Amino acid sequence: MIMENGNQRAFGMIGLGTMGSNLLQNIADHGYSCAGYDIDSEKVDKLNQLNRDSIQGFSDLNDFVKSLSSPRIVMMLVPAGKIVDGVIEKLLEVLDKGDIIIDGGNSYFIDTNRRFKGLEQKGFHFIGMGVSGGEEGARRGPSMMPGGDKQAYEIIKPILTKIAAQVNGEPTVAYMGERSAGHFVKMVHNGIEYALMQLISETYEILKNGLKLKDSEIHNIFEQWNEGRLKSYLLEITRDIFAYKEKGAQHLLLNDIKDEAKSKGTGKWTSQVAMDLNLPIPIIDIAVSMRDLSKYKDLRTKASQIYENQKDVIDNDFSEKYIESLEAAFYFAMVSAYAQGMHLLYRANEAYNYELNLGLVAKIWRGGCIIRSEFLENIFEAYKKDAKLKHLYIDHAIHENLVKSIPGIRTVVSDAARYGIAVPAFAVSLGYFDNFRNENMPANLIQAQRDYFGSHTYELKGKEGVFHTEWEAPNN
Ligand code: 6PG
Repeated sequence: MIMENGNQRAFGMIGLGTMGSNLLQNIADHGYSCAGYDIDSEKVDKLNQLNRDSIQGFSDLNDFVKSLSSPRIVMMLVPAGKIVDGVIEKLLEVLDKGDIIIDGGNSYFIDTNRRFKGLEQKGFHFIGMGVSGGEEGARRGPSMMPGGDKQAYEIIKPILTKIAAQVNGEPTVAYMGERSAGHFVKMVHNGIEYALMQLISETYEILKNGLKLKDSEIHNIFEQWNEGRLKSYLLEITRDIFAYKEKGAQHLLLNDIKDEAKSKGTGKWTSQVAMDLNLPIPIIDIAVSMRDLSKYKDLRTKASQIYENQKDVIDNDFSEKYIESLEAAFYFAMVSAYAQGMHLLYRANEAYNYELNLGLVAKIWRGGCIIRSEFLENIFEAYKKDAKLKHLYIDHAIHENLVKSIPGIRTVVSDAARYGIAVPAFAVSLGYFDNFRNENMPANLIQAQRDYFGSHTYELKGKEGVFHTEWEAPNN
C-alpha cells in the first residue's frame, strides 16, 4: 500500500455515490491508501463496511482532510452545478495553499473556467476532469479527460495512469489542455454519446416497426453487428438489453419501460456551444431534440389518434441484403456523428486556445468510455496521419469506407420517409453530408432574401466588397 507522510492517505474523494465509491475502490486496488467523505452518513458507513484497510470513510470534513498527506489530493464526484461551488467553498476553509482539487463530475466548462481562475488566485491547484465509463468503468478502468493545472496533473498522473482502462498497454487518460479543456472534451464526448444512442434507437424503430422483426431477431442483428466494424460499447449493451427478461417474465424488460427519455444537460450544452461557435453538429442537435420530444407523451398520444400510422412493412421480402443496407446506413451515420463531434473540438481549439490534440482525444476514447468503439481506432489513425485534420470526412481511409456506405443510407432514409418511420438522426446525417460535399449550396438565395427584406447586403462571386440592391425597383 502506498502511504505518504507516515500514516497519511494519498487520495481523498468527496461524494461517495456509486461513481465516487467505485473510483475510490479502483484507486485502492492499485495500492493507494484512500479516504472518502460524504454528507450522507449512510454512504460513509457503506464505504467503511467494505472493511478495507486502504479505504476509510469520514463524516467529518476536518477529519477527512487531516487524514490526507500533503499536498492533499481531493477529488469531487458530486452533481454538477451549485453543489460543486458549495463543496469548494467548504474545502477552502480546511485545505492549505498548494493542495489539489479535482472536479470529476460533468461540470459545465464555463463554470470550470471560473473555478480554475478563482482557485489559482487563491493558491490552489484545480483540475477539471471528465470521467467516463459509468459504474463499471469507475471500478475497473474509466477513460479520463483531465484539464487545468498542468503541474498538479503531473502529481496525480501516476495514480490516474494506473486506474484508467488500458488499450494496447496504454492508459486511457491524458492531459487535455489548459483551464476547462478536460470538461469541454467530456461534454463533446457526451454529445456524441447522445447522437449514437439516438441512432441506435432509430435502428430499433426501423427493425421493429419498419421491418416488423421480433425482439429476438433484433437481438441477433445487434449481436452480429457488434462483431464487425460497428463493434462498440453502446451496441454491446443494446444487444444485452435485447436479451434481458425479469425472472419469470415472457417478454423483455425493455418493453415495460416508458418511452420518455431523461437527460442531465451535457448534450444540450454541446448543442448550445456549437451554435455559439457557428459549428454545425445537427446529429447531436436532433438527438437532444428527440429526447425532449419523447417527454411530450400526452401530445404524442393525441396526435397518434388523429394521424394515421403507416402499417406496411418496408421490405416485404425481408432479406439479409436489407440488413446489410441498414448496417451501412448505421456506419455512415455513426461516422458522421463522430465527425461532427471532432469538428466541434477542432473549432473549440481555435476559439478557446485549448491546444487540444485531437489524436490524443481519440486515443483515450478508444477504451473505458461510453463511446468507445472499433471506429475510434480509425479516427486515431486519421489524426496520426494528419494531426491538423480539419474534418474526418476528408481523411482518405474514412472517405473510402464512407463512399461505400452511401447507397445504404440513401435506401434506408428514403424507405423510412416513404413508410412513415421516424429516423431524423439518420436523415440529418445524410442531409449534412450532401451539403458538406456540395460546392454550391443554395445559400446565395438566403443572402438575396436577407438583402431584399432587410438590406443586409450580399457578396458577389469574383468581386470584392459588399453590395445591396433595391430589389423591388424595376431592373429592365
Ligand atoms: C459517461 C456518461 C456519464 C453519464 C451521462 C448521462 O461518460 O460515463 O456520459 O457521464 O451517465 O452523462 O447523461 P444523461 O443523463 O444526460 O443521459
